[in-house]
Amino acid sequence: MPASIVIGTQWGDEGKGKATDLLADHMDFVVRYQGGNNAGHTIIAEGHELKLHLVPSGILYPHLTSVIADGVVVDPRVLLEEMDGLAAVGIDPSRLRVSGNCHMIMPYHLEIERVTERFLGKNALGTTKRGIGPAYGDKAARIGLRIQDLFDEKIFREKLEVVLKEKNQVLTRVYGRLPLTVDLIEDDYLRYAERLRPHVADTARLLHDGLHAGKNVLLEGAQGTMLDLDKGTYPFVTSSNPVAGYALASAGIGPREVDRVIGVTKAYVTRVGAGPFPTEDLGAGGELLGERGHEFGTTTGRKRRCGWFDAVILRYAARVNGLTELFLTKLDVLSGFERVRVCTSYRADGEVFEDVPPHQSLFHRAEPVYEELEGWDEELVDARAFGDLPAAARTYVERLQELGGVPISVVSVGPAREQSLAVA
Ligand code: IMP
Repeated sequence: MPASIVIGTQWGDEGKGKATDLLADHMDFVVRYQGGNNAGHTIIAEGHELKLHLVPSGILYPHLTSVIADGVVVDPRVLLEEMDGLAAVGIDPSRLRVSGNCHMIMPYHLEIERVTERFLGKNALGTTKRGIGPAYGDKAARIGLRIQDLFDEKIFREKLEVVLKEKNQVLTRVYGRLPLTVDLIEDDYLRYAERLRPHVADTARLLHDGLHAGKNVLLEGAQGTMLDLDKGTYPFVTSSNPVAGYALASAGIGPREVDRVIGVTKAYVTRVGAGPFPTEDLGAGGELLGERGHEFGTTTGRKRRCGWFDAVILRYAARVNGLTELFLTKLDVLSGFERVRVCTSYRADGEVFEDVPPHQSLFHRAEPVYEELEGWDEELVDARAFGDLPAAARTYVERLQELGGVPISVVSVGPAREQSLAVA
């Protein structure tokens, strides 16, 4: 089996870690391909609760090599802290490999994001304030610093001096902040360099050689399709490309290596931060979804906005990612609703849209057109086979599959592995 891609079909937090967990046994490499420490999932390891933001969840499995590929922006301080946290609970982080081509999040990225979000006022994006946008901005502007720069001290100092000169002008003159000093940053980053050195590798070569030796590779997307810089609800997006196509560019492998593109979709929808969300339920329904689903951000602790399943964005995600199958997560959260709603199309300016509208303003004005299905009272957490689900829950799953046009292979009803039900 060659490479598989796991990707969220909504605005993130679909439960992608669960899919990785189910697939891990058959994998040799798990690769994180975009984003940075804006992502996050909570893992329970050796009885300890750990929050991982950057290290791929594959690190939990001793037989796997975990890889951070070129397209990820790395805050080295966070990476080292996560590795220390793992080591402290007995998980060996030595099999982690990081591409030297990864751009680094620098202290001025964090500072600039803080002030620009404040400057945007009511137009703020509600970012995670981890410096993601400014780091990708510098990458595109070709003034970014990469992990490999740490291993040539002269070059590192030179690049840092040049970029900091400009950043300090912006910080002091535009935003009235204090300037940052080259020496302090240099000291910190060169210390990080020594610890990172054993992990830095030519990850594209590693994955290529692995694939050609018959190894299996799982490419793990962070965030989700609707937060994609190009394919999402711009400008209310993240600054990278979670879509499946980018997994290849980042990992440095060709499209012919991939035979499975798994979309992870939650049985309802959540969103953190600002931006359009047609099926958002601002009433009691949304509250209940948030409560039952424990919908609080792993990275910022913010309450997630909650709403009903949106088949329009599912069809869109299926199309732009070329999904071959779906994992449906958190179906158990929907127990207790008398009726469950599914958005089948949008209405905006008197027109009906079966697909994501072609203009941002239309998307902002889109009203969901709902189909209502019968709900179910039974808790689902004890189901161990698809056939154990009440008839109404099975009908709901079958309807989502029909509307999305992609086969659902697994339905999950809780965080444990045995709560994943194969759909025949
Ligand atoms: P940034 O990625 O920090 O720049 O934030 C941009 C937008 O993406 C904000 O609306 C964030 O809330 C959202 N975002 C970033 N990462 C995640 C994630 O892992 N889950 C859900 N939303 C995210």
